Amino acid sequence: MDTIKKVAEIIKEKKNVVAFTGAGISVESGIPTFRGAQGLWERYDPDEYAHISSFNRNPEKVWMMLREMAQVIFEAKPSAAHEALSELEKMGYLRAVITQNVDGLHHLAGNKNVIEYHGNHRWLVCPLCRGKTPFTKDVLSIFPYPRCETCQRALKPDVVFFGENIPIEAMIRANEEAKNCNVMFIIGTSGVVYPAAEIPYISKSHGAIIVEFNVERTPFTNSITDYFFAGSASSFLPEIVKMLR
Ligand code: APR
Repeated sequence: MDTIKKVAEIIKEKKNVVAFTGAGISVESGIPTFRGAQGLWERYDPDEYAHISSFNRNPEKVWMMLREMAQVIFEAKPSAAHEALSELEKMGYLRAVITQNVDGLHHLAGNKNVIEYHGNHRWLVCPLCRGKTPFTKDVLSIFPYPRCETCQRALKPDVVFFGENIPIEAMIRANEEAKNCNVMFIIGTSGVVYPAAEIPYISKSHGAIIVEFNVERTPFTNSITDYFFAGSASSFLPEIVKMLR
């Protein structure tokens, strides 16, 4: 409890917080993580299902996983941790959320400045003409996969597959926010996927205080984290909001 109080004081004094989030913040929204026992990559080998060359080779196979993922995302609601970040933005403490998640839950929770580093699963994009359309529930009943009306190519969710580049605008914005924050929250990420995992190191090298929330320790914990909260993000973040009120 004392550490929470200390962190709330730091936020009050320094303001200018940026949150870097991963799959752990959406666990209580009903979306499983990627790694670990219940993780998506336990059931689907990412080389076979999440690499852009797999999608290009066999979109029908990859769409079996994408359909399952979309169903879970459609059912999900923001967690208490998402809501707390939205509150912190409204209160003027949180400047931006940089998320690796593609579930769109930070937007649904009401955050305005959200950088979606790995894209958004609620949109579809044509790999050829780059045209975008909303990924609505009725797409789930299109077999074997939805096609671009203009090019007839298999549409893919507007997310970054392995082997694809991070959207340049997201990368530039994320780097700027990371450089300029006074406090960086690292929430629910294993910190093993690059270049996303570089972001907290950028903040640290520019003098930010690093506050990490995770049920387990990560590569950040012993290297750059100043305050580590071991447990669910949804149990700590609302507490911090309460203390700042
Ligand atoms: N609160 C906080 N952290 C949690 C919680 C929780 N309730 N539940 C799980 N976690 C933590 C886990 O301990 C783990 O460290 O969330 C982390 C999830 O890690 P990953 O599954 O690796 O997810 P993430 O770090 O977001 O993955 C990064 O990998 O496959 C790609 O593109 C995908 O964006 C994703 C990227």
